[in-house]
Amino acid sequence: MTMQPASTEIASRTAAIVQELKDLEGPLLPILHGIQEEFGHVPHDALPVVADGLNLSRAEVHGVVTFYHDFRAKPAGRHVLKLCQAEACQSMGSDAVAAKIKQLLGIDFHETTRDGSVTLEPVYCLGLCACSPSAMLDGEVIGRLDDEKIEEIVAEVRS
Ligand code: FES
Repeated sequence: MTMQPASTEIASRTAAIVQELKDLEGPLLPILHGIQEEFGHVPHDALPVVADGLNLSRAEVHGVVTFYHDFRAKPAGRHVLKLCQAEACQSMGSDAVAAKIKQLLGIDFHETTRDGSVTLEPVYCLGLCACSPSAMLDGEVIGRLDDEKIEEIVAEVRS
């Protein structure tokens, strides 16, 4: 599992990000993206620093973090597997693909396997609709998911 930095370190690194981006128009989302880039997720200890910096309540910041599925509350696994759940992929069986992968990995969307090997997330269109159903593994798109490709992906993230 990824080691989490101490809360004081999170606070100081978050404060630097807030300082850098707070004068943007609509600074909250860029700041949260900056935090996720810095830590790989949006740590709970970062939220009060963001709230103070932008004069928002902690509940408002928390609400935005949980509303946008892009933001992770916990560190991701070593691999991140995103399965497209948008319309074109749905029509080509993405539900069955997701069900199979969830079963093989023993996790649901937004979860990470216990060994920290992989985090599973839904995504809504990867621009690869012509090759549905599609997925993205660690930033690389994979089209035409069939049983063979699913087995390969699961073997890769498990190795
Ligand atoms: S709908 Fe899945 S890639 Fe576009």
